[in-house]
Amino acid sequence: MKKTFLLASLLLILIVILALKQENTPSWTRYQRDYFTEQISKLQVQLGTINDSTKKNQLQQELASYQTRKPEIINLVLPNGKVERCKTCHIGIEEISNSHPSNTFGCAVCHGGNPLSLDKTTAHAQMYGGGHPGSLDVASLSCGGTGANGVACHTGNHEQAKNEVDLVKTSIMSTKAGELSVVRMMFGFDKTKDVPGLTKGQVGFLYPNPLQGRPNEKDFQQNCLSQCHQSGGDIPTPIATKNPHPEVTQGKVQAESKAIQGNGCEVCHVLTNPTHTYIGADTTMKSSNIGRGKVHSLTTQIPYTQCNQCHNQGNHDPLKMSFAIRSDMTKVVNDWKAGDTNWLDRLKDYYLPGEIFAQCEVSLDCIDCHTRQDVMGDNKLYTSQYDAVHLQCQDCHGTKEKLPQTKIIKDTNDLAFEEQITNSKFPELKIGNEILMTAKGEELPFTRHQGNDWVQSSRVTGKTFKIPLVYGSKCQQSLMEQGADSCHKCHNRSASHP
Ligand code: HEC
Ligand code: HEC
Ligand code: HEC
Ligand code: HEC
Ligand code: HEC
Ligand code: HEC
Ligand code: HEC
Repeated sequence: MKKTFLLASLLLILIVILALKQENTPSWTRYQRDYFTEQISKLQVQLGTINDSTKKNQLQQELASYQTRKPEIINLVLPNGKVERCKTCHIGIEEISNSHPSNTFGCAVCHGGNPLSLDKTTAHAQMYGGGHPGSLDVASLSCGGTGANGVACHTGNHEQAKNEVDLVKTSIMSTKAGELSVVRMMFGFDKTKDVPGLTKGQVGFLYPNPLQGRPNEKDFQQNCLSQCHQSGGDIPTPIATKNPHPEVTQGKVQAESKAIQGNGCEVCHVLTNPTHTYIGADTTMKSSNIGRGKVHSLTTQIPYTQCNQCHNQGNHDPLKMSFAIRSDMTKVVNDWKAGDTNWLDRLKDYYLPGEIFAQCEVSLDCIDCHTRQDVMGDNKLYTSQYDAVHLQCQDCHGTKEKLPQTKIIKDTNDLAFEEQITNSKFPELKIGNEILMTAKGEELPFTRHQGNDWVQSSRVTGKTFKIPLVYGSKCQQSLMEQGADSCHKCHNRSASHP
C-alpha cells in the first residue's frame, strides 16, 4: 500500500515537471526541431541515391551535425549593428534573392515587425501587408523603403525607371482603367475614354459609382472590377474545384479566389505553382494557407504561366457582368503542374481557345516582348490597353521599307545593364553591342546584332531565337496596317491550326 502511494506520488511529480517543462519550452525550439528532422530525412534520401564516396562523406557529416544540433536563438547582426531574430523561428526560410542577401538586408527592411521579439504575436505586430510586403498599399514602406546602408530602394531615385513602386501604381493592371473606360463608354456615361476622377494607385473596385447606381453596378464591381488587378484583386484561380465549399455558380468562380489575391510586386516577382502553396523549407509555414509563392524567392525571369494567373483565364461578359473560366482549364492546369510545358502544351494553353497568333507570340514568353513600361507602367494613367502597350510588331521585325530601330551601347550607366544584375539567363552585354530600340524609345536589351542576323535570348529560358526581318522578305503586309490584328489576317496560327 505504502509502496504504491510512493510510486503514484513520484509519477505525479514527474508529470508536473514534464508539464512545466513543456510550458517553458519556447515555440521556436519546436520549429527548429521540425526543421532539423526535415533536413535529416532529406539527407537520408539523398544518401541512398549517391555513389561518389567524397560526396557521401560530406553528406554524412552534414547529417551528423543535424542529428546532434540543439535549438538556439539565431541573432542576425546587420552591418549597421542592428540585431534581428526572425530566423530563430524562420530558420528554414530561403534567401529572398542575390541582390537582397539576408546578412546585409535582414528581414524587417521588407517585412517590418519587431525583429528582436521571440514571441510570434509581438514579432509580427505592424508587419507590412501581413505575408505580402509587396502589396501596393504598403509597397512604399517595404520595396520603397530605405536599406540598412541608407540607400533609397525602389522609389525616390533620380531615374524614373527605378521608382517601380510609384510606376506600378499607375499601371492599368493596377487601376483597371481600361475595363472601367470601355464599360462606362458602352453604357453612355462618358463620351471619351477618359475616366473622370481616376487617381494613381486607386483600386478599380473602389472607383465610386462606376455605373452610376444602375442595377448591374454591383455585379460589375464584384465580378469584373474586383478581379485580376494588382492592388489586391482576386485571382480567378482554377483550384476552386478543390475547395470544400465552392460557390461556383453559373460558371462564376468566386469562393477560393478570396484567399488568392494579386499582391502588387509579388504577383509577378514571386513565382507561384498552380495550387498557390508554399513548398519551401520554412517549417513555420507548414500549415499555411493557399495564396503564397512557391518559395521565398524574387525573380525577374517571369514565365508566361505567372502572367496567366490573370491573363487568358476566361471571358468577361460585359452585358451579363459575369466571368466564365475557360472550358479547357483542367488541361491548362495539369500541364502547368507537370512543370515542363512543351511546344504543343504552349500552343494550346498560352491563349484562350480560338485566339490567333504568330509563332513568336507562343515560342517567346510574355516578357520577351513586353517591355518594362508595358508591365510596370511609365507614370502615366492610361485608360485603354491600346494606349498603355508600348510595343509593336515592327519594333522587332521592321516593315517592308524600314529595318527596325537600333542603338549602340556606349555607356556603362545605360539602363540596358540593369537587367543583367538580376537575371542569370541574360546574354552578357558589352559596350559596343547593338540592340533593338522600340519606336517609343525603350531598349530591348536582350536582342543583339550578330553578323547579318538579329538574335534574341529569352529572358526566361535563355533559349536563343533568330528574328526574321520583314525587309527583303516575301511578306505581303501593308505599310499603313501595322497593328497585330492586321498581321494576324495572314500570320494566323491557332491552337487547332498550329
Ligand atoms: C527583399 C524583401 C524581402 C526580404 C529581405 C525578406 N523577405 Fe520575406 N517575403 C518577401 C516577399 C515579397 C514575400 C511574399 C511572398 C509571397 O507572396 O508568397 C515574403 C514572404 C515571407 C514569408 C511567408 C512565406 C512565403 O515565402 O510566402 C515569410 C515567413 C518570410 N517572408 C520571412 C522572412 C524572413 C524571416 C526574412 C529574413 C531572413 C525575410 N522574409 C526577408 C520579401 C522579403
Ligand atoms: C516565435 C516564432 C516566430 C518569430 C520570432 C517570427 N515568426 Fe514569423 N511566423 C511564425 C509562424 C509560426 C508563422 C506561421 C503563421 C502563423 O502561425 O501565424 C509565421 C508567419 C510569418 C509570415 C507569413 C504571415 C502571413 O500571415 O502570411 C511572415 C511574413 C513572417 N512570419 C515574418 C516574420 C518576420 C519578418 C519576423 C521577425 C520580425 C518573424 N516572422 C518572427 C513564427 C515566428
Ligand atoms: C494580377 C493580375 C495580373 C497579372 C499577374 C498580370 N496582369 Fe497584365 N493585365 C491585367 C489586367 C487586369 C489588365 C487590363 C486592365 C484594363 O484593361 O483595365 C492587364 C493588361 C496588360 C497589358 C496591356 C496594358 C499594358 O499595361 O501594357 C499587358 C501588355 C500585360 N497586361 C502584360 C502582362 C505581363 C507580361 C504579365 C506578367 C509579367 C502580366 N500582365 C501579369 C492583370 C494582370
Ligand atoms: C506585371 C508584372 C510586374 C509587376 C506587378 C512588378 N514587376 Fe518588376 N519587373 C517585371 C518584369 C517583366 C521585369 C523585367 C523588366 C525589364 O527589366 O525590362 C521587372 C523588373 C524589375 C526590377 C529589376 C530591374 C530590371 O530591369 O531588371 C525591379 C527592381 C522591379 N521589377 C521591382 C518591382 C517592384 C518594386 C514592384 C512593385 C511595386 C514590381 N517590380 C512589380 C514585372 C513586374
Ligand atoms: C511576340 C511578342 C509578344 C508576346 C510573346 C506576347 N505579346 Fe502581348 N502584345 C504584343 C504586341 C506587339 C502587342 C500590341 C498589339 C497591337 O499591335 O495591337 C501586344 C498586346 C498585348 C495586350 C493588349 C491587348 C491586346 O490584346 O492587344 C495584352 C493584354 C498583352 N499583349 C498581353 C500579353 C501576355 C499576357 C502575354 C503572355 C501570355 C503576351 N502578351 C505575349 C507582343 C507580344
Ligand atoms: C521582341 C521581338 C518580337 C516582337 C515584338 C514580335 N516578334 Fe515575331 N518573331 C520574333 C522572333 C524571335 C521570331 C522567331 C520565333 C521562333 O523561331 O519561334 C519571330 C517570328 C515571327 C514570324 C515568323 C514565324 C511565323 O509565325 O510564321 C512572324 C510571321 C512574326 N514573328 C510575326 C509577328 C507579329 C505579328 C508580331 C506582333 C504581334 C510580332 N511578330 C512581334 C520576335 C518578335
Ligand atoms: C496579306 C498577308 C500578310 C500580312 C497582312 C502580313 N504578312 Fe508577313 N508574311 C506574309 C507572307 C506570305 C510571308 C512570306 C512567308 C514565307 O516566306 O514563307 C510573310 C513573311 C513575314 C515575315 C518573315 C518570316 C520569315 O520567316 O522570313 C515576318 C517577320 C512577317 N511576315 C511579319 C509580319 C508582320 C509583323 C505583319 C503585320 C504588320 C505581317 N507580316 C503582315 C504575308 C503577310
